[in-house]
Amino acid sequence: MDAPLTTPAQPVPAAPIALNLPAGFRWGVATAAYQIEGAAAEDGRTPSIWDTYSHTPGRVDGDDNGDVACDHYHRMPQDVALIRDLGVDTYRFSISWSRVQPGGSGALNRKGVDFYSRLVDELLTSGIDPWVTLYHWDLPQELEDAGGWPERDTAHRFADYAALMFDELGDRVRNWTTLNEPWCSAMLGYAYGRQAPGYENFPAGIRAVHHLLLGHGLATQRLREAAAGIEAETRFGITLNLGTAHPATDTPQDRDAARRADGLNSRLYLDPLLKGTYPTDVVDDLALRHAVLPVEDGDLEVISTPIDVLGVNYYTGWLISHLGEDGSAVDSDGALVARDVGRGRPVTAMGWEIVPECFTELLVRLAKDYPGTPLFITENGAAFPDVVADDGSVPDPERTAYLQSHISAVAEAVAQGADVRGYFVWSLLDNFEWSYGYDKRFGIVRVDYTTQERTLKDSALWLRGQIRNWRAAV
Ligand code: NOJ
Repeated sequence: MDAPLTTPAQPVPAAPIALNLPAGFRWGVATAAYQIEGAAAEDGRTPSIWDTYSHTPGRVDGDDNGDVACDHYHRMPQDVALIRDLGVDTYRFSISWSRVQPGGSGALNRKGVDFYSRLVDELLTSGIDPWVTLYHWDLPQELEDAGGWPERDTAHRFADYAALMFDELGDRVRNWTTLNEPWCSAMLGYAYGRQAPGYENFPAGIRAVHHLLLGHGLATQRLREAAAGIEAETRFGITLNLGTAHPATDTPQDRDAARRADGLNSRLYLDPLLKGTYPTDVVDDLALRHAVLPVEDGDLEVISTPIDVLGVNYYTGWLISHLGEDGSAVDSDGALVARDVGRGRPVTAMGWEIVPECFTELLVRLAKDYPGTPLFITENGAAFPDVVADDGSVPDPERTAYLQSHISAVAEAVAQGADVRGYFVWSLLDNFEWSYGYDKRFGIVRVDYTTQERTLKDSALWLRGQIRNWRAAV
């Protein structure tokens, strides 16, 4: 079962990361269940929307799926040893809802729960703090069949599941994230058809936004109640995908397009969570598209239940034009265009522009506009087309440069007053990159999908060295 672990002796790139990050700053690596676990039909797990979607021909590049992925379900102890070897102190992973609660309601599946319980124990024994994400996009298919996130009931099912998992792991897990990137679940999943479950229905996407946020709030309330009986400090939060949206030109049209992009991507989540209101300009934009947030009395109080941590996933910043590729200001659905046109800077394999200064700007803005909530970078990283060298090593200087410039950008934000408490690399392993399949590699550890061999890339060796230096200096 155990595939060899390769740690080639590579020189660590010289350039140091900024060292002004505060003592107690957390260093981590992150993954998500469907992207790494495999064992899709084992020990009672039932399909999630991602099993259905990835098994639908034409949905995922190469028709790849997560049936085997990195086989982490069977290689967990070895992967935890790998995390320890990297010298990080935190591991962020997600729980596959349909593994622990098949169908998304009712009793827990002991075998599924046991896997996560063993993972948590293995991490704690290895001196690594577990950081649980309860929902990283893999809704149990049965709940989708009942209407999915556009239906209010899904929020209640999610809160029940969250409370059950806290009963199981709350004695050992101190860090809980409810949702990962609800924008993706709602908009890519229901509005734009680019992720599971794959609908192209904008109003349904907006209903999903509200129910995801409601599910987060209901779950946070239940988690807080359950944690009241526990002495150790427990952190609760949510992770959003955030970026900056600058206008491509100074025209009123581009400035308004940038406002719309920022509103739909960021403020539609940040404001209800942290201010208890939906932004009125975004609500007006939505009305033009016949989309309504199905708010009921009391919902915004629930959604704005205080959180201890805002998780930030950052990859790029956008330069927004009000014109589409065809030069039209209105898209085929009749919606006003807000399109990222880029600055002509280098991009990653995802085509995402590398703009670390936007990372600093984002974090400083969050500290200013939403003060009082500690920030953790729950994801940052880059895909590049890695090549294995003749000696078996994986030189990935672009990824190292990306990590270095973005960690420096975090340090700069801290210097400017942002309360950032940790940085987790996406990702520990190359993995199933959703609709892009296995072709896009985000890992600092390479996975050979034929042998399941893991190889530390040069970026991993660099990171390990930098964390060591930083620890010695603080
Ligand atoms: C954000 C998602 O949380 C993660 O699952 C994904 O792999 C990375 N971004 C890279 O696209």
